[in-house]
Amino acid sequence: MSTPVEDRLRARIAAEGPLPVEDVMAEANAAYYARGTAIGAAGDFITAPEISQVFGEVVGLWTAVVWQLLGMPKPVSLVECGPGRGTLMADALRALAPVPAFREALEVHLVETSPALREVQCATLGDAVTAWHDGLETLPDRPLLLIANEFLDALPVRQYVRVGAAWHLRRVDVDADGAFRFVTGEPVAADDLDPRVRARAPDGAIAEVCPAARDRRGRRGPPGGGPGRCRRVHRLRPRGLGGRRHTAGGATSCATSCPSGSWHRGPDGPCGFSGIG
Ligand SMILES: C[S@@+](CC[C@H](N)C(=O)[O-])C[C@H]1O[C@@H](n2cnc3c(N)ncnc32)[C@H](O)[C@@H]1O
Repeated sequence: MSTPVEDRLRARIAAEGPLPVEDVMAEANAAYYARGTAIGAAGDFITAPEISQVFGEVVGLWTAVVWQLLGMPKPVSLVECGPGRGTLMADALRALAPVPAFREALEVHLVETSPALREVQCATLGDAVTAWHDGLETLPDRPLLLIANEFLDALPVRQYVRVGAAWHLRRVDVDADGAFRFVTGEPVAADDLDPRVRARAPDGAIAEVCPAARDRRGRRGPPGGGPGRCRRVHRLRPRGLGGRRHTAGGATSCATSCPSGSWHRGPDGPCGFSGIG
């Protein structure tokens, strides 16, 4: 039986033609995290803050040290991107009890697109949160400390396929039975690929970049400039559409969502969306 996101993607492909992998991942990720049940011991995967409170406590103490190094600005935004169940931030704030001046100076801002996870975060953190945001653009223009765990690799990737000397955009189509399949799209400049990847990747290689992660990594401080520090914990691991492994040409293929680009082999072929609502 089809899931709603599969139906939406089939309708878009019927109207627009094969979609870039990036667009498919954006739809699938939004639907996946919209359920709000992915993270934790009872979910699909577990993350460091859900395993041990020490993780968030250490990150919290790091923010206090950096705040002091920045000259103790007041007010200061403590921002978390993709806060999941709010566990990391709760542990961080608890660890800041011995630094009351910082606790009084900071405002907590969460960047989260899933309404269901916003509710979980609200239940975990309550009044501690000043505001939620869809992106970095709406953060207050002031000094900030930004933390993110397992966030960059939740963002959609753009994929290219090397065909001879050219790079082609990798797209997702549906076959006659309505099954999703990867296809090689039109030739493109692919000038956002790392030059080393462009030079070394062999014929048939699939290379990918994560434009959304690159945009966020490019931001070194608060929206209007001024002091700020970022701490992102990013573990590279096998990924697939919608955060799951996918099969390409019958074999499981793995890709890393490194913003600077990476490559692997994987011919056109079926791709799956199992479990995505
Ligand atoms: C892999 S989870 C990590 C959760 C949490 N940091 C942890 O360590 O438990 C990814 C988080 O990023 C959020 N997310 C995914 N895509 C997003 C986007 N484009 N903008 C903001 N948040 C997003 C998800 O809803 C989820 O909260």
